[in-house]
Amino acid sequence: MRNILITGGTGYIGSHTCLPLLKGGYKLTIIDSNVNSTPTSIERIKKILKNNFSENQISFFKGDIRDKPFLENIFSNAIKENNPVEAVIHFAGLKSVSESIEKPLLYWENNVFGSICLIDIMTKYECRNIVFSSSASIYGNTSFEPILETSEIKPCTPYGYTKVAIENILASIFKSSKNSWRIANLRYFNPIGAHESGFIGENPLDTPNNLFPIICRVANGKMNELQIFGKDWPTIDGTGIRDYIHIMDLADAHYAALEFLFRNKPQILNLNVGTGNGTSVLELVNKFMKVNKCNVPYRFTEKRLGDLPFIVANNTQVTSILKWKPKRNIEQMCIDGWKWQQKNSNGY
Ligand SMILES: NC(=O)c1ccc[n+]([C@@H]2O[C@H](COP(=O)([O-])OP(=O)(O)OC[C@H]3O[C@@H](n4cnc5c(N)ncnc54)[C@H](O)[C@@H]3O)[C@@H](O)[C@H]2O)c1
Repeated sequence: MRNILITGGTGYIGSHTCLPLLKGGYKLTIIDSNVNSTPTSIERIKKILKNNFSENQISFFKGDIRDKPFLENIFSNAIKENNPVEAVIHFAGLKSVSESIEKPLLYWENNVFGSICLIDIMTKYECRNIVFSSSASIYGNTSFEPILETSEIKPCTPYGYTKVAIENILASIFKSSKNSWRIANLRYFNPIGAHESGFIGENPLDTPNNLFPIICRVANGKMNELQIFGKDWPTIDGTGIRDYIHIMDLADAHYAALEFLFRNKPQILNLNVGTGNGTSVLELVNKFMKVNKCNVPYRFTEKRLGDLPFIVANNTQVTSILKWKPKRNIEQMCIDGWKWQQKNSNGY
């Protein structure tokens, strides 16, 4: 069984990605500081898989990627057990755009310094395969065209800058040691929803910042109303348009990326992982209310500094290179996300 290190593996995207990887027969070494998650997600993953995996396929170690001795132990113990870490899927990071504006140093320190520590230990242990969680927030798209991987890189928040910095570090590592690293930077658009079982889902420990978890909380009365920032954007209904992708489609894209890297020569890939379809905030809220037969009171407020009207992926690269394509539509995203919320109204 090939041993894959999953950093940030108890979080939202990490926990969902564990499912296809375990089904595909990988051994997962999960590490997480639990600054924004709980290890209960691992118990839930086991519950979903029932008897279709073996206990020795998953191990969890609580720790921080900035802690090099902790990372060294993970890599050296894996060698001692004759199962070295062969690749890393690097989810660990802080992800709140607004918090990154208030506390930029925390973001540079956690995300960028943390990634440097990880890449350093990977280099030391000759593990040179990595799938990295990048983000659409690296683009400064002001047009109404779907974004290409070659579109202008122009983040407008410290969070976005940390993702660009990590991509740049990976690019320099790649150049400095030709023909040895396999790197996939997956630039996610807007993952929402949950596994269809409702056992795992997005579980922000603090007040959520993203639209979808707020919609869920308003729908079940945990928050009073949804604020929609701006109603006069130059879009079909005046609200911002985003590219929402079902979390399980995103999870499958990680599986496809990992398998691609293992099968192919050393290279560096930058891939937009989205559906290529735009949905406005009002369309999403209305769809959510309709399919789930619930109410989401909302109010329009001022636009936020740095917000953009249209962020949708051109996903031609990812679909052709990885032979992956998104399978689930907006309805499914709303149904599955609401199911998770109803089953776990207080989180895990
Ligand atoms: N969710 C999104 O909309 C989105 C979009 C684009 C990119 N991303 C990126 O994808 C990754 C995963 O996002 P998510 O939505 O699952 O977030 P999440 O907060 O649920 O998961 C991130 C995990 O990383 C852990 N973590 C943070 N700092 C750590 C550190 N220094 N050491 C060890 N663990 C640490 C957290 O406890 C958490 O479990 C992040 O890097 C995020 O920036 C997310």
